Amino acid sequence: MALKLSVVGCGYLGATHAACMSSLGFEVIGVDTDPEKIALLSKGELPFYEPGLDSLLASEIKTGRLSFTTDFSAVADADVHFICVGTPQSKDGLAADLTYVKSAVAAIAPHLKNGSLVVGKSTVPVGTAQGLREQLAKSAPHADLAWNPEFLREGFAVEDTLTPNRLVVGVANDRAEEILKEVYKPVIDLGTPWIRADLPTSELVKVAANSFLATKISFINAMAEVCEAAGGDVTVLAKAIGYDPRIGNRFLQAGIGFGGGCLPKDIRAFMARAEELGAKQALEFLREIDAINLRARQRVIDVVRAELTEDLTSYKIAVLGAAFKPDSDDVRDSPALDIAAQLQAAGASVVVHDPKAIENARKRFPNLGFAANVEECVKDADLILHLTEWREYRELNPKALASLVKKKIVIDGRNALERDKWRAAGWQFHALGRTD
Ligand code: UGA
Repeated sequence: MALKLSVVGCGYLGATHAACMSSLGFEVIGVDTDPEKIALLSKGELPFYEPGLDSLLASEIKTGRLSFTTDFSAVADADVHFICVGTPQSKDGLAADLTYVKSAVAAIAPHLKNGSLVVGKSTVPVGTAQGLREQLAKSAPHADLAWNPEFLREGFAVEDTLTPNRLVVGVANDRAEEILKEVYKPVIDLGTPWIRADLPTSELVKVAANSFLATKISFINAMAEVCEAAGGDVTVLAKAIGYDPRIGNRFLQAGIGFGGGCLPKDIRAFMARAEELGAKQALEFLREIDAINLRARQRVIDVVRAELTEDLTSYKIAVLGAAFKPDSDDVRDSPALDIAAQLQAAGASVVVHDPKAIENARKRFPNLGFAANVEECVKDADLILHLTEWREYRELNPKALASLVKKKIVIDGRNALERDKWRAAGWQFHALGRTD
């Protein structure tokens, strides 16, 4: 008989996982404590923006294989339970807050049937899975626990789930691995590398991957700082080093740095956990990675001040982009929104545009100005800041915009606009890491 699956926590990760597993032919029940989210998902509607997931969710709901509920007892029928709840940064430090993971496992424990497998997908500090497995051995000894970290990127969530570049499973025995192989058979059959690890290694793989990505971004942003000091061009430097396959050209886009719900909090939680384990020194470099990243935001503000004046009170600044990256409406730890808010706090009149993230941005910073379109955003602006590289911004016509603004000054915080095109239209063009 085909396995039945449950997905506990229907946020970004859970909603994607539930819809994708249903598309592989499984019967899936999604559970979440938030009734509004469940009501939307049950109608086949997404509570957030993710290209391609909206149509997949709607069609999977129609098949009848996929359903959602707030009732945790509904997982009783399932054989495999994916834990997909959030692990945000704690309010009082760098560590991850594990409240949701612990309560999710506790909530399903009384309903687990004989032989069922709980599979953690949330990003957790190393050692969490072993702790939860021991806890489960007491509350539901007939069930087992494994870990299966998720590497999906926002904006590519469906693609990354159904055609991932690897599958990693942390298991304590062969049976758990066999069950997971059955779940992922269609994905394995595509030739996806399968990596079996022990529980702690599987947890570490995830935070190591995100730490490496964060390091790559901060490395190029550090090079941008040096280029600025030495009169170089970081975009040319990135291109040149990227041709070396040992370095690679991905994730070398210099600019205002990384944000979102994962990279920043994951490197901080990793440092906190290493310190608990007595390995603090090994991850000291991540403190510098974090510092370089936050400094990039400050460097943009310095360029704004250099172009206008120290005192920003009489200026209108148009900010293009609020999401932490394009193709997402996520504003968690968004560098763009942070910069907009800091400029406003410094006295500037700031108007923000974003193709998808305005609603979330307004919830976070209700006092910022928001515009429904780019023209309204830049009208009479003294300076344009390009902070999230949406395709729509790359395709803007600088000639047409020139007639709308007060001063033709643009700062490209993502090194994504075509400098020559803007300069040809009479703009003063500045970008991070490029002195020319
Ligand atoms: C990241 C990882 O890439 C995923 O593999 C992982 O599964 C996910 O976190 C997670 O832990 O759940 P995501 O947060 O969607 O995915 O975003 P990324 O595409 O990694 O971008 C993160 C940030 O880095 C963005 O703010 C982006 O603008 C910035 N970035 C990225 C740069 O500044 N430069 C680059 O070259 C690349």
